[in-house]
Amino acid sequence: MKTIFSIVETKKKDHLPVQRFIELVDHEFYPPLSERGGGIPERIEKCLDTSEANYLIARLNEVDISDPLDGIIGMIGCTKNWKDESSTYVNFLATHPDYRKYGVSKALTRELEFLMEKQGFERIYVCTWSTNPAAMDFYEKIGYNAYSIILNHRGNGVHTINYKKKI
Ligand SMILES: CC(C)(COP(=O)(O)OP(=O)(O)OC[C@H]1O[C@@H](n2cnc3c(N)ncnc32)[C@H](O)[C@@H]1OP(=O)(O)O)[C@@H](O)C(=O)NCCC(=O)NCCS
Repeated sequence: MKTIFSIVETKKKDHLPVQRFIELVDHEFYPPLSERGGGIPERIEKCLDTSEANYLIARLNEVDISDPLDGIIGMIGCTKNWKDESSTYVNFLATHPDYRKYGVSKALTRELEFLMEKQGFERIYVCTWSTNPAAMDFYEKIGYNAYSIILNHRGNGVHTINYKKKI
């Protein structure tokens, strides 16, 4: 894919397009993010441009002013100091359905790893669920190792799979 997007950190002003992007992919998560804890509003409050967390977005270089997503085609969220002071946790990852398999999430993950390594973090944790083969293939392909499985954690026969990578 010709480089048609840039990766930037989100700011508070990105609240609305970030919310719309999460809502767009919400139903693909199991359970949907809107049905977890405080739902999407609390997630954004905790993860958008705070001292402990932020999102990186892949944004189209040419944004149509009528685009409600303000050019966002992919997003990764990261929470710092997860298990200890040297680890971080990927709290969200998705690519816009129209831009999948073009390397968007790979580019986001690589950039996140680069930034976290620069800040002195040594490990990144992430989890997915057993009925999400796209994410499992994705994480394994880019060097994340499954280190534990929580059986039936997300309901009948749907297991949580925990991954980590040393950066
Ligand atoms: C999983 C997801 C984030 C991948 O995003 P993407 O931008 O399409 O992924 P990329 O194009 O960067 O793919 C990187 C690698 O993962 C592999 N991959 C991506 N999607 C895949 C799929 N559906 N099946 C198998 N492999 C896949 C690619 O083949 C690619 O490998 P390559 O570099 O050797 O070609 C995307 O499918 C998505 O947003 N899913 C819905 C939300 C979700 O499940 N998020 C993860 C929650 S834990």
